[in-house]
Amino acid sequence: MTARIIDGKQVAAEVRAEVAARAAALAARGRVPGLAVVLVGDDPASAVYVRNKAKAAREAGVRAFDHVLPASTSQGELMALVARLNADSAVDGILVQLPLPSSLDARPVLEAIDPAKDVDGFHADNVGRLWSGMPRLVPCTPLGVMRLLAHEGANLRGASAVVVGRSNLVGKPMAALLLAADATVTICHSRTADLAARVAGADVLVAAIGRAELIRGAWIKPGATVIDVGMNRVGGKLVGDVEFAAAAERAAAITPVPGGVGPMTIAMLLSNTLDAAERRASG
Ligand code: GUN
Repeated sequence: MTARIIDGKQVAAEVRAEVAARAAALAARGRVPGLAVVLVGDDPASAVYVRNKAKAAREAGVRAFDHVLPASTSQGELMALVARLNADSAVDGILVQLPLPSSLDARPVLEAIDPAKDVDGFHADNVGRLWSGMPRLVPCTPLGVMRLLAHEGANLRGASAVVVGRSNLVGKPMAALLLAADATVTICHSRTADLAARVAGADVLVAAIGRAELIRGAWIKPGATVIDVGMNRVGGKLVGDVEFAAAAERAAAITPVPGGVGPMTIAMLLSNTLDAAERRASG
């Protein structure tokens, strides 16, 4: 058996087209949606992400406000920028690119963002809402994974879903969304005993641990749906957390790296920006 390859680029293009239509409708009412992206320091990978976010925003009819600050920026200066963006009526969404330089503490910055503009869904209010069944703004990558699963017609109700990774950005919100979709959810991580056995029980596997090909193809349950969030650079090549070729021999469907989850994250960021903008326009 060879798995169906899940085309994240195609699904992301669908999402971006929906966003563009919603942005045009808001603009017709004099409310052009706006997304502020804050980058501190000169991490080259982050700079690429931030450029791509701004480009995708503009292509969808969303105004992008880029704030690129030097690595020497103080905590107070960054907090002051967030306060300005909170007060700026042209800004519907605020994203502070992570990781921040080690001299800065991300948590108070994320908590300073107006929860109504928190398009990353990282503010504790939005995290609590997600886990309480009152979701508002939900982290982009897990939201993109749910969209891919819906596109695949994956049956989540009663299914065994295994999330490998427990980060606030991906693993934890991913588990909340799968649980809300009536899956039976297991969260595994770097200290999990017998990861192979946990993975072998998964009807739906989401790998988000950031270790190149940690998850071996032979562990995959035949017929499983495999979503690989990993983006690991190995000798100049981008590699996922799953041993792709061997996993594709067993899975029913699998995301490639690149071209799977990656394109979905920016698309869902724009979708969240429109959610925030529409709520602000009607509120
Ligand atoms: N760094 C890597 N992924 C993300 C993300 O989704 N949001 C933010 N703010 N920073 C990131």
